[in-house]
Amino acid sequence: MRIKYWGLALCAVALWGCAEMGSAETASAPAKLKDGEPALPVGYQNGPKFLSEVQRPDIKQVRELFINPMGAATKAGQPFPNGTVMVMELYKAKLDGETPVVGPDGKLVKGDLTKVFVMAKGEGWGQDVPENLRTGNWVFAAYGPDGLALAEDFSKCRGCHAPLAMKDFVLRYDEYFEKRAAR
Ligand code: HEC
Repeated sequence: MRIKYWGLALCAVALWGCAEMGSAETASAPAKLKDGEPALPVGYQNGPKFLSEVQRPDIKQVRELFINPMGAATKAGQPFPNGTVMVMELYKAKLDGETPVVGPDGKLVKGDLTKVFVMAKGEGWGQDVPENLRTGNWVFAAYGPDGLALAEDFSKCRGCHAPLAMKDFVLRYDEYFEKRAAR
């Protein structure tokens, strides 16, 4: 049963091409990923959307959020299952001088992609950090627009996400399920 479970989890993550998980690990000793280790999933842009054009005028950004098929199957009110991967693209808002440009639809206009953030969860992951920074089984990673890993201070990611335990540490949890239900 144990082996079968991991087999399923590995397949689900392999849909998004998570190299670390599918590689040399045996079924009985799956890798426990740490911050910085989840791969940027290949082809995530073609997977399910989490939220589109999240407006962040406060920091002059627009964000595009994605979730893998396993996470997208989660029912409202439930935590996301181990094997879930979320990707968030951070775009600069286009500026006119210092002021963000607003398009005809009233939204900020997307400029250059600056960073891509990843949140992924798996059994036993993310336990090697101080208790006040624990985010369940979620671990964090960050990439540049070229897909190369960035050495971010992942305790900062945790500092913002950790207080959201009631929402499985996902800041736009409610908005996602509301918008998904309305689609
Ligand atoms: C200053 C607080 C803050 C920090 C630091 C932070 N986040 Fe977030 N994160 C947010 C907020 C707020 C959202 C919701 C989207 C939005 O409003 O921009 C979010 C959303 C996300 C999401 C989409 C899922 C969700 O929670 O809605 C991912 C993935 C993510 N962050 C990863 C990271 C990673 C990786 C880091 C560190 C490299 C990080 N975050 C650092 C505040 C933060």
